[in-house]
Amino acid sequence: MAEPLLAVGVLISGSGSNLQALIDRMAEGSVPARIALVISNQAEAYGLERARLAGIPTRVIHHRAFPDRQHFEQAMIAALNAAGVELVCLAGFMRVLTPCFIRAFQGRLLNIHPALLPAFPGLHVQQRAIDSGARFSGATVHFVTEEVDAGPIVAQAAVPILDHDTAQTLAARILTQEHRLYPMAVSLFAQKRLQISGQRVHILNGREEPEAALIVPPPEP
Ligand code: GRF
Repeated sequence: MAEPLLAVGVLISGSGSNLQALIDRMAEGSVPARIALVISNQAEAYGLERARLAGIPTRVIHHRAFPDRQHFEQAMIAALNAAGVELVCLAGFMRVLTPCFIRAFQGRLLNIHPALLPAFPGLHVQQRAIDSGARFSGATVHFVTEEVDAGPIVAQAAVPILDHDTAQTLAARILTQEHRLYPMAVSLFAQKRLQISGQRVHILNGREEPEAALIVPPPEP
């Protein structure tokens, strides 16, 4: 008998384009998982509509409906557990989580961040990457630990920063890669191929390309 699909919970606050990428890759069978629940802390998040269109159960759990963070997080933990969620994916979820939530899903909580961590944790990262003069930025999927944007890295995608980039054009280029990266990372998790060893995540039976390099500007002939 085939193994049951990994049950994933996705936390969003907004557009949910990463959620859509997960929905699409799961629907076509390239990620051996299913989304059991989408939680938004914003009732108007477009991602809720995306989930409903895909027939996925949704919950709005508004942080302001609770006296403090701990009660808010307990409500999310209860909803995720009731849905049988095994892996939680943060996908544009705009609340910082406390150790209470993080410990409840230790080792099974992923986030996607629009920069090449450990460079540029936090907010406004596209503008900060441009201002730094770096030739690259990108996206990172990482396990969530108690320090914000600092957990073991699962996968990264690098994109060039172009001379005339604005925060918006760079964000769009990064987002395109996020949509490839997050499903890939979830698929590796679902296949039990991620092994955390300190800060490093080993990918079991992964392919490595020692010569792979993205050079910016491209070498001239
Ligand atoms: C993405 O850039 C993600 O890296 C960041 O928030 C954004 C969410 O976009 N954490 P979307 O809601 O998935 O479209």
